[in-house]
Amino acid sequence: MEKCVVIYKSKTGFTEKYAHWIGEELGCEIYPVENCNLVHLYDYDLIIFGGGVRAGKIDGIKFVNKTRSRFPDKKLIIFATGATPPEETVAIDRVRNMNVPANSGIPFFYFLSGFNYEKMKGFDKLVMSMVKGVVRRIKDKDGTQDAMLAAMKNSYDHSSREYIDPLVDYVKSL
Ligand SMILES: Cc1cc2nc3c(=O)[nH]c(=O)nc-3n(C[C@H](O)[C@H](O)[C@H](O)COP(=O)(O)O)c2cc1C
Repeated sequence: MEKCVVIYKSKTGFTEKYAHWIGEELGCEIYPVENCNLVHLYDYDLIIFGGGVRAGKIDGIKFVNKTRSRFPDKKLIIFATGATPPEETVAIDRVRNMNVPANSGIPFFYFLSGFNYEKMKGFDKLVMSMVKGVVRRIKDKDGTQDAMLAAMKNSYDHSSREYIDPLVDYVKSL
């Protein structure tokens, strides 16, 4: 197996939890992106980057471009955590297309998480209450919009360790 490291950006703890699970499964080190000096990456063949999705954008994704320009020959994997159910493949494909550099061939994995209002900072809380307000004001809401509103109401955590299996299997197959 390649010598790998997990670098993550996590604001409310979901991505951090997935990073720990991946690190345990692969027996590799994990670092928050804030503590990661690009120089450290010399030691690794494979860099796994993960972040939470906010309005379609993966937090900290700039790290991927920086790493690619500094180390064009290293392998990369991107994973994202989000509240969108994984069955919503159109939405997940949109996240992939918005974040994975075009024609890079970087593998992308998506893991279901939830919302944590207790750990959310002021600006994110404000954004969430604006989104809830917009959905609430829609007259004749359809089932998806009702479900979205219900899902956003309180904190919940639908993350689960087995969701990392496809990523772990992929890395082990390299
Ligand atoms: C302001 C805000 C916007 C969000 N936007 C999305 C989104 O577009 N798609 C999604 O699936 N989840 C969205 N979420 C849910 C987060 O992606 C989810 O909580 C994520 O796992 C957070 O990761 P973290 O705890 O590691 O920061 C949003 C959450 C917040 C607070």
